[in-house]
Amino acid sequence: MSAPRPTRPSRLRRAPGAAPATRRGGGARLPGIRPTALPARGGADWYRRGVFYEVLTRGFFDSNNDGIGDLAGLRAKLDYLEWLGIDCLWLLPFYPSPLRDGGYDISDFLTVHPDLGNLDDLVEFLDDAHRRDIRVIADLVMNHTSDQHPWFVESRSSRHNPKADWYVWNDDDQRWPEARVVFVDVETSNWTWDQQRQQYYWHRFYSHQPDLNYDNPDVVEAMFGVVRFWLDLGLDGFRLDAVPYLFQRDGTTGENLPETHALLRQLRKEIDAAYPNRVVLAEANQWPSDLVDYFGDGDECHMCFHFPLMPRLFMAVRREQRFPVTEILAQTPEIPDGCQWAIFLRNHDELTLEKVTEEERDYMVAEYVKDPRMRRHMGIGRRLAPLLDGDRKLAELLHAVLFSLPGSPVIYYGDEVLMGDNVYLGDRDSVRTPMQWSPDRNGGFSRADFAQLYLPPLMDPVYGYEAVNVEAQQRNPSSHLHWLRSILQTRRQFPVFGTGTFELVPCGNPSILAYVRSPLPEAGGPERARRTGRPGRGTRAGRARARNGDEGDNPVLCVHNLSRFAQPAELDLVRWSGRTPVELLGRVPFAPVGSVSYGVTLGPYGFYWFELIEETAGEQPAPGPGGLA
Ligand code: GLC
Ligand code: CA
Repeated sequence: MSAPRPTRPSRLRRAPGAAPATRRGGGARLPGIRPTALPARGGADWYRRGVFYEVLTRGFFDSNNDGIGDLAGLRAKLDYLEWLGIDCLWLLPFYPSPLRDGGYDISDFLTVHPDLGNLDDLVEFLDDAHRRDIRVIADLVMNHTSDQHPWFVESRSSRHNPKADWYVWNDDDQRWPEARVVFVDVETSNWTWDQQRQQYYWHRFYSHQPDLNYDNPDVVEAMFGVVRFWLDLGLDGFRLDAVPYLFQRDGTTGENLPETHALLRQLRKEIDAAYPNRVVLAEANQWPSDLVDYFGDGDECHMCFHFPLMPRLFMAVRREQRFPVTEILAQTPEIPDGCQWAIFLRNHDELTLEKVTEEERDYMVAEYVKDPRMRRHMGIGRRLAPLLDGDRKLAELLHAVLFSLPGSPVIYYGDEVLMGDNVYLGDRDSVRTPMQWSPDRNGGFSRADFAQLYLPPLMDPVYGYEAVNVEAQQRNPSSHLHWLRSILQTRRQFPVFGTGTFELVPCGNPSILAYVRSPLPEAGGPERARRTGRPGRGTRAGRARARNGDEGDNPVLCVHNLSRFAQPAELDLVRWSGRTPVELLGRVPFAPVGSVSYGVTLGPYGFYWFELIEETAGEQPAPGPGGLA
């Protein structure tokens, strides 16, 4: 039996399972819903230049004071997000769900969880975001559903119902022993016995999350219908959750299979054919060589999280050595044109230690896990600030590295004010507590009674909402929040951070992480740029283009001190000799690069970003505020 075939005209095809299309206010409409009126402005590769912000709608702002953050609340905070300077929001799953896995256990793909509002609220939110040129992507969980999803309810009801093979069933639990269990601390097998059907079903995550069977074309068509539904509504794309596990094959680990890649290519083709300027971002917790396959030949995902880089940033600052970072970057293959890494420090999950060696894992645990309660699955259930012992200098340094390495940075909500965590909460709720807006009741998140809140806000003396909140930091110009906002503004002026080439700068001091981000040469794509490593030419025309917001023509040198002590850096910059480094934040020119190594001294966890300006006759680098004229 096949999935109900959409019968709508192309852009308005009804997703399978959706309510019948109705018309409201004349004109053809999605099923009863007006799609967003306004696409955000910007070129097709907006995602290569943008800054992403990951948000838990449930935890952001509660507009109706029922204790749960909602879409209207998120909309009410768009002023703040615009002020902060982010380009794209990533919404964690907002679909109906029994919430046994933070909403990644979906029981209906085609609407909004009633706690958070309805589809109209979503569209109004999208309109408002797009009006501000903020894009919105959402989690799309293709791999599995909740066991409460009507598809599974039907599938488990017998061996011969119309959805009998929409999931993966087997008579015994011995098949595919090579496939690892992801949540090792909770699940013992990827198979669970179903009493009703008298068979085992397959699940890569929790046992209440049965995997869909992608060998069944009806499942593929149903999920593509889900994709079209949300794109028709105006979403700017998806984060593809848990994407390596879509297929199972004998004798394999069931990860990164060719069938999975073929399906992603098919998905991308569907999207490109009808929905311009959207983005697909893969969540694949894999080693770099497997990760890059998710870009395909530029015909799979536009973006991919760089999972192995993340723990190595934390390792590098504890070891006070660049090696963990440079080693993983060296192992990272080039990516096709038009693709981009998504890079991050923390997210809504545990700080995963899946893609490190055993020795590295032991090191991370020894350094960052003060209490066994902080362990979650294969990682650490803590937020950024407590991981760094609240060290603001170190937080600034890590953000500087994050904002200057190749890739688009993804900020996790609350980390912009250095919020804390609550390791006494179960699973990953430790890092999903309410956003701290003000010192008011419930941190300004909600006016509901405390007991009604979806999770308790932090109230400890160090990270509690009285000590850490947006309002206080907005009032204080020297707060971390203001620092972050201003560095994002600086970053925005130099598109080279998003799209430029990357070249490590040799330095004898192992605590120094230095690199140059260069604009692509005019002809030839990134391939050629990477091969030649040729820096851009600082011509007048180039500078004019940079002012116009095009690719700037000057390389940017980034120098970071990963040590808690002051460090000297002798940098081999001979290739750029004759250029003047102008520090980006203050626009202060430093001594020109000569023909010997270039010396810079950095304070504890200090960093500099310099534009390397080539002086042409009659032109001087413009001194900025406090500049040495
Ligand atoms: C992804 C999500 C995680 C979830 C898992 C299973 O890894 O990030 O939160 O638990 O998928 O759905
Ligand atoms: Ca609410």
